[in-house]
Parts: sequence; structure tokens; C-alpha cells
Amino acid sequence: MNSENLADRIDHALELYLPGCEAPALTNAMRYCLFAGGKRLRPRLLIASCRMFGGDEQAAMPFACAIEMIHTYSLIHDDLPAMDNDDFRRGKPSCHKQFGEALAILAGDALLNRSFEVMAEACAASEENAVRRAKAMACVGKAAGAYGMVGGQALDINNAKLDESGLARIYDLKTGGLIRAAIVAGYLIATVASDMDIKDTITQVATKLGYAFQIRDDYLDVIKTTKELGKPQGSDAKNSKTTYVTLFGLWQTKQTVNELVADAIRLLNIGAIGFNAQAAPLMDIASEFIISD
Ligand code: IPE
Ligand code: IPE
Ligand code: MG
Ligand code: MG
Ligand code: MG
Repeated sequence: MNSENLADRIDHALELYLPGCEAPALTNAMRYCLFAGGKRLRPRLLIASCRMFGGDEQAAMPFACAIEMIHTYSLIHDDLPAMDNDDFRRGKPSCHKQFGEALAILAGDALLNRSFEVMAEACAASEENAVRRAKAMACVGKAAGAYGMVGGQALDINNAKLDESGLARIYDLKTGGLIRAAIVAGYLIATVASDMDIKDTITQVATKLGYAFQIRDDYLDVIKTTKELGKPQGSDAKNSKTTYVTLFGLWQTKQTVNELVADAIRLLNIGAIGFNAQAAPLMDIASEFIISD
């Protein structure tokens, strides 16, 4: 089962979860952003993690779609003039450029609320699995809000004078939060009896991948073109951001990304012997983070 097909299945499920509402402009704005061609990284991670622990894709799919809705809303708000003020996203004019700021704010709000509705429905759909699913929903909720992504975004607003540990803390919240939640929620949905050692290992793997992903994003912001990125090149410099690249330079950033990914894969390899040998899809996704140029 390759990840391209998985991304297609995620897109199909997202379609079903987003029927039109009574405000056509809002439906258009939500669908425009959600189906603009994101990599579907977080839902793929969630499903790969769930399958690695013996769970099935069908059980994971509502949570996978929910986390993609939350991620998409976070990008819509991140691009707003009051935040990063970026005009392109996923290769198209960003939501506020296409629909205006009011609808962009509302499309974000609506995606966030729909995500929790979808997760709550998945909890209610199975008495046997309700508690585990509710734990997964709580995990996603914590990672998305003040104790995760939103908290990190708030700290990131004025980040001009940060040292490495300050930057790492913000990155762990603003980006690490949802990536970690995707992997841990996959584990929670799948696992009947929870094992603290396994949960700890998988959390460490997810934390390394989350950090690697954001500092790789800093790297790509410098070296890629707007067309390649599908979002404006140089956004961080425009906003005078401290990034891993401004602190350590391009070469060191690339080394650190690749070391973090190698560490995560090593941990998965050790861990995989303990639970089962289904870690390959998760390792494949982790390998996508490696910077080779
Ligand atoms: C972009 O995330 C925002 C960051 C946290 C760096 P992605 O690079 O996963 O964006 P999409 O979903 O593919 O557009
Ligand atoms: C974080 O970082 C994005 C979110 C948590 C929403 P960036 O601001 O660097 O993300 P991009 O580069 O705009 O995708
Ligand atoms: Mg930002
Ligand atoms: Mg941004
Ligand atoms: Mg960025």
C-alpha cells in the first residue's frame, strides 16, 4: 500500500466529511484550501502509526481527516495579514487573497469545529472503542490549542531575538504538536492495552520528526523557489524571523535535519522489534524528510 494511494484515500474521505453548508462562499473557501494539494503528511503519519500498532485504516481515517482539517485551518490563519501575511499557499492564492479576510477567518474556524465533530462522531460510533478514541481526540485537541500549535504560533509572533532553546520550544509547540499528536493518536486508536515504554518511544520518534520537519521548512524557505514551494519563498526573512537557518546556517540545518530523521528511524527500528514489524510505512514517511540536495 503506497502513500500516494493513501493520500488519495484521505482525499476521498475528506470529500465525504465536507458536504456543502448553507453559506456557499464558506463551503467554497473551506474546500478551496483543503483540496489545494497539501502533502497530507499528518493524516498519513496517523494512519501509518495506527497500522503499525495493529489498528486499521478505517478506524484511523476520521482522526486522520480531522488532523488535516486542523492543519489546513492553521495554514489559513498563519497566512493572514495579521500573521505571516503570505499571498500564496499550496500553489494558489492564499485563502484571504481569494475570498477576503473575513471568509478566511471563518473558513479556519469552520474547519477546526468540523474536525472535532468528526472525531466525536467516531468516538460515539463504537462503544467498545469509545474510550481509546476519546483519548486520541483529547491528544489532538491538546496539541492543536494553547498547549500546542496555537500556543507556539503566539510565541512565534515576536520571535526576533531567540536562542536555540527558545526556538526549539516554539517549534515543538507550533509544528511538533500536530506531528506528534498524529503519531501518538494513531497509537492510541490502535492499542487496547497501553504500554508506557512503547508510548514513550513513539513520542520520542514523533518529537524528533516534528522538530526536523520545521527546521527543514526553514531550510526550504531559503533554498527553494516560490513555484517549488507553492508558498512564498523568503517568508521568514520578510518577517524578520529567527529560524534554525539564521542561527546555524544552511549546512548545519541540513545536517541537523538528517541526524534527527536518522535518530527517529533508529528508534523505530529498535522499537519495531518490540511491538511488530509494521514500522516500514512510518519509516518511509520519515525518509521523505531527508534533505539530499
Ligand atoms: C507547512 O506544513 C507548515 C509547517 C508546519 C511547516 P506542510 O509542509 O505539511 O504543508 P502542506 O500541508 O503540504 O501544504
Ligand atoms: C508554522 O510555521 C505554521 C503553522 C504552525 C501553521 P510557518 O509559518 O513557517 O509555516 P509556513 O512556512 O507558512 O508553511
Ligand atoms: Mg508562521
Ligand atoms: Mg507561515
Ligand atoms: Mg515556514
